[in-house]
Amino acid sequence: MIRKPFVPSSCALKKRSHSNSPLAMSDEQERWKALIRHMFAQAERNRANHTEGTADDHGPEVGLLASEYGGKAFPKEALEQLLKQMLQRLGNSEGLQGSLSSVLSSLAPNSQLHQLIDSYLREHSMEALIIQAKAELASLQRRQDWEASKARFLGPNGSLRTFMKGLQQLPPDQRPAFGQKINAIKIALESLFSDKLKAIEGDLLRQQLPLPVDITLRPRTSANGCLHPLTQLRHRIDDIFHRMGYTIADGSEIETEWFCFDALNTPPNHPARNEQDTFYLPPDIPVGNVSRREKERYLLRSHTSTVQIRTMLSEHPPLSIVSRGRVFRRDTPDATHSANFHQYEGLRVDRQISFADLKNTLFFFLKELFGDTIRIRLRPSFFPFTEPSFEVDIQSPSMGKLSHQWIEVLGCGMVDPEVFRAVDYDPQAWNGFAFGIGLERIAIFLYGLEDVRHFYRNDQRFLKQFA
Ligand code: DAH
Repeated sequence: MIRKPFVPSSCALKKRSHSNSPLAMSDEQERWKALIRHMFAQAERNRANHTEGTADDHGPEVGLLASEYGGKAFPKEALEQLLKQMLQRLGNSEGLQGSLSSVLSSLAPNSQLHQLIDSYLREHSMEALIIQAKAELASLQRRQDWEASKARFLGPNGSLRTFMKGLQQLPPDQRPAFGQKINAIKIALESLFSDKLKAIEGDLLRQQLPLPVDITLRPRTSANGCLHPLTQLRHRIDDIFHRMGYTIADGSEIETEWFCFDALNTPPNHPARNEQDTFYLPPDIPVGNVSRREKERYLLRSHTSTVQIRTMLSEHPPLSIVSRGRVFRRDTPDATHSANFHQYEGLRVDRQISFADLKNTLFFFLKELFGDTIRIRLRPSFFPFTEPSFEVDIQSPSMGKLSHQWIEVLGCGMVDPEVFRAVDYDPQAWNGFAFGIGLERIAIFLYGLEDVRHFYRNDQRFLKQFA
């Protein structure tokens, strides 16, 4: 904002009674006015540019004026009023003080003007510090600005210090009063600064505090977490097999060729063992906790049937186990394929297990999962590790547009005697059945989904439907 230049009231200058003036009254007033306009304009410019004024800003004009009045009687009230108004208007303008100081040096020390300006400077410029500090503090918001400002006023090189230095130059009799004044100003400044610091710190604290509670806001809907839908399904199936007396056997995702294929009666030339179908690991990879039969290659298991072998090697029959987990295939992901998915495997070994046991077990399981209204059928199939082998299909009236279709849900069969031989079980004494279920496949039909990739995208909109 640009203010209009201030012009002192002419009555203040009219009071002047100086008979020897080299200028006529009106000329003199004009000179004063011009000088003051100049000083104010300069001060405003300094303000706008955020620069400090210097003595040179108005020195020549003030000096000129002073030289005309030096040593002569000067209109004291006029000067006083002028200085007061300037001060109110500009605060403690450094430029103004600089100008007056430079005038001082050019005046005879005993001249009236010298005394006048000198005492003005001493009395008012110190008080002006308070006006200036107030103005400066009003616009401060940050702690570091406050510190810089405090240093300018109260620091070792600050304005107040300049006055303290001036104390020594004073005649001894004037020192006590001047000293007291410095002290009073110092106390006033210090309290200004400490009040401001409290305000800054208070603001900072308020910013850090949480917003006050708005009780008119609607409550947030609770965002309960939930288990992944595949985990939920796995737990449901666990529960069903648990009721039939099965226990859970764990295996690792890294396996060896022997456990994944050879022991499961899958010959070396079987397509599942092809490099294109299975993820083989580099030969020198250290896998400390997965035992090998010989020096066969490590791979990522392509099915959970590996756990059948590891369990039969470490436990004696009879046994009823399920094992579940992630398996890996070299598949290109699409709506029905994924390079890794989840299987649920079962194995039962006992002395007189029949095909009827297999059928009953799976029918019970599928009815528990899909409901009593489903129809079930077994189709002959082939797996190297079971003989005979079957695919199990279901048909369910509650499966929407798939209601009239037979849907393949799992593979199963009676354990091949070759598998028992691989783990040193006597195939004459023991028999059993096994089955393998794709969890994603079951989940897709159970939940009516169209794309297996939903399970791996971590999309909240999908997942939270299972909460
Ligand atoms: N391992 C088979 C697969 O990955 C699934 C399977 C079928 C497992 C029949 C079995 C089984 O235990 O008896 O496709």
